[in-house]
Amino acid sequence: MFITFEGLDASGKSTQAELTAERFRESGENVMVIREPGGTELGEKVRSILLDVNSAIEPAAEVFLFSAARAQLVREVIRPALSRGDTVICDRYVDSTTSYQGYGREIPLESIKAINRLAIEDVIPDLTFFIDISIEEIEKRQRAAGIDTDRMERAGRVFFERTRNGYYELARTEKRLKIIRGERSPGDIFSDIWSIIQVELHRSSVG
Ligand SMILES: Nc1ncnc2c1ncn2[C@@H]1O[C@H](COP(=O)(O)OP(=O)(O)O)[C@@H](O)[C@H]1O
Ligand SMILES: [Mg+2]
Repeated sequence: MFITFEGLDASGKSTQAELTAERFRESGENVMVIREPGGTELGEKVRSILLDVNSAIEPAAEVFLFSAARAQLVREVIRPALSRGDTVICDRYVDSTTSYQGYGREIPLESIKAINRLAIEDVIPDLTFFIDISIEEIEKRQRAAGIDTDRMERAGRVFFERTRNGYYELARTEKRLKIIRGERSPGDIFSDIWSIIQVELHRSSVG
């Protein structure tokens, strides 16, 4: 099974990805957790460029950088793992490009769709959890954790509102994308996520 986590920064993606991985591991599954961009040698190099606050990157260039890292990750890591029967959990994936670069940076969606298709081909998640929190909650969490913001996180409130709206737009057409209310305890959130995974596992086993 291939599961991805989406949402704005500090929404709890990494927390939920780890909880999900642990639960799968307890049931004896081989699980791989991957953080995007990254997960390959090329991907980690691209990641350092993308998150560096000193990088000047045009929106169109940003699309290609994220997509280059992803194209490598899909072929080098994700597809082989899924072929072995492993469970793959990805912290961000193709919907981040649609929401951030498409809706957030306002790159035409037809271009984004074509690039996304080239990057991932048929490696589409079975389930995608969009963990939704307000911009106010993000700012609160970042202050609380004393997190130093990276280049993407400095983009500003209007950008994040457009990006958040992008995820809502995606959820209207993509059945695999589930909106999860993120302003609750990690345990409550995970309990929703795990029930949805159970439904999907059942659905795929009965065909
Ligand atoms: N449900 C939650 N409620 C409150 N704080 C949370 C919750 N989940 C995660 N956090 C905190 O918010 C911050 C960001 O969480 P993280 O899982 O790293 O998010 P992301 O990977 O989406 O950036 C961390 O400091 C984490 O401890
Ligand atoms: Mg994270």
